[in-house]
Amino acid sequence: MLWPKNLSKRIKTKISLAPLTSFKIGGRAEYFFEPENIKDLQQALVSARKNKIRVFILGGGSNILISQPALPGLVIRLSSNSFKQCAIKGCCIVGGSGLKLNQLILAARDKSLTGLEFLSGIPGSLGGSVLGNAGAWGNSIGGLVKAAGVIDYCGKQKILTAKQLKFGYRSSNLGRYIIIWVKLGLRRGQKKAIAAKIREYLLARRKSQGSLLPNAGCIFKNPVSAPAGKLIDSCGLKGKRCGKAMVSCQHANFIFNTGKASSADVLSLIGLIQKKVRNKFKVNLEPEIKIWK
Ligand code: EPU
Repeated sequence: MLWPKNLSKRIKTKISLAPLTSFKIGGRAEYFFEPENIKDLQQALVSARKNKIRVFILGGGSNILISQPALPGLVIRLSSNSFKQCAIKGCCIVGGSGLKLNQLILAARDKSLTGLEFLSGIPGSLGGSVLGNAGAWGNSIGGLVKAAGVIDYCGKQKILTAKQLKFGYRSSNLGRYIIIWVKLGLRRGQKKAIAAKIREYLLARRKSQGSLLPNAGCIFKNPVSAPAGKLIDSCGLKGKRCGKAMVSCQHANFIFNTGKASSADVLSLIGLIQKKVRNKFKVNLEPEIKIWK
């Protein structure tokens, strides 16, 4: 048997992934599993490895384009309560990787802890945000991380201290691992002031980005020379469409799914943007979103 007996009924097949992504695009996963706890997760990883099955971890689904109509492999989603716990210890908050960033921000606010407000409005899970060192307004989450509990793809658990963690612009050295929990260092603040800051960041984000239609956040990383959005805008690409995918008319580093866009539509638009920006500015735009092939 492919999967251990206790998991085989819970590992589903041919599950549509589109509803689980903010882009609302994506094919079906060959296998799909939502482990109840670490032990489940370990077992699934060990079996997948034994059977040479590729493993994909779906975080909050907000920074991803699934480009396959049928994704061969096992998609794991850390959605059960045991991966969404949140505990406050002094000025530190320890959150499960499946926790939504917004839940984490509100939990910190309720305990008068400041430091996370700049992340307000970023969709996605804590694990995904730390893996990709999500950020906004000149700050990124990596700077707050004190430790992370991880598991490797062989099922071995480990705790990584701040010293062992490396963060760069929208990157980390955690790609070899699945993040289970993260400990973040915050500061004491005033609840009212924290709430006001959260509102301020949410408003600023809504003003500059808007997001009425399904999207995956910023598509490209900012190159050193200038923000990607500015470069794309300068090429006159706002509103440009490939099929049902369209460059946002508000912020040019966003692509909207205007209704039943396919991954091929988005990939064509990405290719077109890269070509135009390369021709005009001699700059290669690198996708920020993860593309599952
Ligand atoms: N701009 C334009 N035209 C556009 C978009 C932007 O001229 O269509 C200009 C703006 O006027 C501004 C500059 O480009 O002068 C930068 O724009 P913005 O302030 O919106 O920031 P950004 O660099 O485009 C980054 C992050 C966002 C984050 C914002 C807010 C990246 C790739 N993007 O955007 O993160 O929300 O700062 O801090 O680092 C994401 O990671 O998914 C994301 C959206």
